[in-house]
Amino acid sequence: MPDYGLSGGGWQADERENSKLSKALAGTLERPPKMEKMREASRGIANQGRDNRSNLTRKERKMKRITATLAGSLIALAATAPASFADKLTYYCSAQEDWCQLMARSFEDATGIDVNMTRKSSGETFAQVRAESSNPKGDVWWGGTGDPHLQAAEEGLTMEYISPMRDQLHDWAIAQAESAGNKTIGIYSGALGYGFNTELVAANSLPEPSCWKDLLKPEYKGHVQMANPNSSGTAYTTLASMVQIFGEDDGFEFMKGLHANINQYTKSGSAPIKAAGRGENTIGIVFMHDAVKQAVSGFPIKVVAPCEGTGYEIGSMSIIEGARNLEEAKMFYDWALSVEAQNLALQVNAFQVPSNKGAETSESAPDMSLIKLIDYDFKKYGSSDERKRLLQKWDEEVSTLPQ
Ligand code: G6P
Repeated sequence: MPDYGLSGGGWQADERENSKLSKALAGTLERPPKMEKMREASRGIANQGRDNRSNLTRKERKMKRITATLAGSLIALAATAPASFADKLTYYCSAQEDWCQLMARSFEDATGIDVNMTRKSSGETFAQVRAESSNPKGDVWWGGTGDPHLQAAEEGLTMEYISPMRDQLHDWAIAQAESAGNKTIGIYSGALGYGFNTELVAANSLPEPSCWKDLLKPEYKGHVQMANPNSSGTAYTTLASMVQIFGEDDGFEFMKGLHANINQYTKSGSAPIKAAGRGENTIGIVFMHDAVKQAVSGFPIKVVAPCEGTGYEIGSMSIIEGARNLEEAKMFYDWALSVEAQNLALQVNAFQVPSNKGAETSESAPDMSLIKLIDYDFKKYGSSDERKRLLQKWDEEVSTLPQ
């Protein structure tokens, strides 16, 4: 990967062997034969316009190829669906806004189905789906961290569905489905970390942090930002990761120490690093791919893989129980697992690792095999009781402390 100042200290190569996800991710980018066939077919469509090829930029050629491929795969999906479509879909999205929009418009363009998209953070969407459960308004929930999707599955808020696309996915994405009675599935993964604005660090004569515990130093007071774990899946992943890395007591001590240095708890998980990019905040605790996005966009952001190791997410997708537009929701679900839909991420600098084995991972994406990942216990920390308990404890013991 290019050097975006990605730094991680104190990690030895043999420790990588301890990480389930690192193992699952290593060497999994080979393309299954079936997908190769689909790509061949789409190349045929794309090549019809070959005469114009020299007049197109690389990006335009890629766009053309993706558009042609999407059209091809959606025709195939539509052929298997019943004729009674309502032709609309209510889509709740918990990934980055630009990616949510692109997914909505691309699905709409390819199928003619009207998509009504709302972007809210993972915890907020979970709360909305629960609040609407007696009269569901949403059909499909795409993106956001896996923990609230798992909690929704446990609480019967989402429905079981086994997609015909499933055999194209990495093991970690299928494991997510299996642990939730197939009421959710993995669509991407990404490691937690933080990023900092190098100019602000220099201007304030601050040392460059490289570990989680560095963030507790008094000189960082007012310089650290993270989201609120109630609304944000990123921040809940942070809380659950600290509990797993340091143990519950020391994890909460860490969160209390961090609280003293926090300048603001935002609603959305990626907001702290966007603020750092704009020079309004120094250090943002976010998924590393969100920090890379800022660096790639030209902002003076350095990305840190903390030396103690870190947690990660399995970004997930679920169909909402009682969906009014169930057939459209299933179409969206199948499409969202395809290579073509997952490759859309590259257009919006979404640097997560895609769950389809044939989808492309950007060269700019943080290399998961080089990050010291903990064996994050999704079953425990995505369970309804544990998530409620940790959030309540954070509300009572951390957020109320003076700063
Ligand atoms: C960003 C990340 C996603 C993550 C999402 C969670 O969009 O790029 O990988 O799933 O945040 O959002 P939240 O606002 O719930 O923290």
